[in-house]
Amino acid sequence: MESMSFSISNHFDTVVTELKNILGEQFVYVDEESRNKYAHDETENLHFLPDVVIKPITSLEISTVMKLCNQYKIPVTPRGAGTGLSGGALPLKGGVLISFERMNKIIEIDERNLQVTTEPGVITEVLQNAVKEKGLFYPPDPSSKGSCFIGGNIAENSGGPKAVKYGVVKDYVLNLEVVLPTGEIIWTGANVLKNATGYNLTQLMVGSEGTLGLVTKIVLKLIPHPKHDLLMLVPFNDLEKAGEAVSAIFRAGFTPSALELIEIDALKIVSKYLDNTMIPVTDEMAAHLIIEVDGNHPENLFSEMEAIANLLTEFECGEVFFAEDAIQKEALWKLRRRAAEAVKIDGYTIEEDTVVPRAELPKLIRGVKELGKQYHFNVVCYGHAGDGNLHIRIKKPGSIYSLNNQEVIPALKALFALVKSLGGTISAEHGIGVIQKEFMDIVYTPVELELMRGIKKIFDPNNILNPGKIF
Ligand code: LAC
Ligand code: ZN
Repeated sequence: MESMSFSISNHFDTVVTELKNILGEQFVYVDEESRNKYAHDETENLHFLPDVVIKPITSLEISTVMKLCNQYKIPVTPRGAGTGLSGGALPLKGGVLISFERMNKIIEIDERNLQVTTEPGVITEVLQNAVKEKGLFYPPDPSSKGSCFIGGNIAENSGGPKAVKYGVVKDYVLNLEVVLPTGEIIWTGANVLKNATGYNLTQLMVGSEGTLGLVTKIVLKLIPHPKHDLLMLVPFNDLEKAGEAVSAIFRAGFTPSALELIEIDALKIVSKYLDNTMIPVTDEMAAHLIIEVDGNHPENLFSEMEAIANLLTEFECGEVFFAEDAIQKEALWKLRRRAAEAVKIDGYTIEEDTVVPRAELPKLIRGVKELGKQYHFNVVCYGHAGDGNLHIRIKKPGSIYSLNNQEVIPALKALFALVKSLGGTISAEHGIGVIQKEFMDIVYTPVELELMRGIKKIFDPNNILNPGKIF
């Protein structure tokens, strides 16, 4: 599936020469091998080749590039680490791909104000570790945290397991330096915790999937790092019961720092993939909840965990496994974090990112399984149950794509209609990108969509920045 090349236009040579003048020859790539590396992300098995890849290092370079591309109406696709799951970084229309990999400096950790200013190409976990050394915490932790870039997290408004207690990326972004598609450089807000000054451009940028501007500097709020955490794994023989237990935990007054669900087939696949036999699996098991609590007083955490475990017996759970030390905790988290990768390799190539109000989770789970039977798909679920956010992986031999796949689309439409009827929506943390755009009208009216298109037009009158995404 290759893109239409803009090299068919007369401007290709001129533009490449100009790009080399702006960036230096060694940071402009036109050879096929280099371009191929940037033709895919983690979304299904999609592949779109850019015409040119560039690796700028300053906002000013990006500004000059955008003025050039806007003049010649050349598509530009921004890209973080390429770990996205909705195709946000795929250069759908070819053109110029901007990789942020050289913009990887943490500019300042402000310990007086509990803030960090960073460039977008910093790996999320690197940023988390740097602030942790100062006793500070940046909580959003997508499964790809060891390789994804913070800039990509801003673009997608990423979440992860900690979101259930600490919120998602948007809850930490205070201010952004942005290069507009027309080349101007702006700051969206101020480095303050409260801001009621005009429209909230900062939050408009967060989750805009690289369609409104290119984020070049990021100011994030930090919080003190909790000193202790406890982790347990609880098996259930009934998937829906596991779903019911989730909302009961919150209703009973607990706020876990993670509350994840992993269905047994996913656990089996990822255990095998990682060659990890830590979790004994029996035939009766249907799913596990992974529950973490954190805070500064270990005694409180122990009693909280005990109380949660007691509560779960009402939902016919099996024997609880407590992670004993940091090594067991990390091994358990690794099983959860690498589930997506493992099941994809196993043939579950299509991933959905549904979210419903938490108490509707059992209905979503039941509906998903019914749809799987009706449409003859294998489905396996895992995800951030505490947020009502369920990742649904689909395997249907021969159907590795959802994009334009008439075999898959009716099933997805039925799934999203169910999600909508439960008060939910079609993406919680992966974004719309290219694979979900044809379903936007299930959850938004034409008026709502027209408003969004209008915003896009104001920022990007020539539709050059990440075209073909979201709408
Ligand atoms: C996860 C990614 C797929 O939760 O969002 O593993
Ligand atoms: Zn997730």
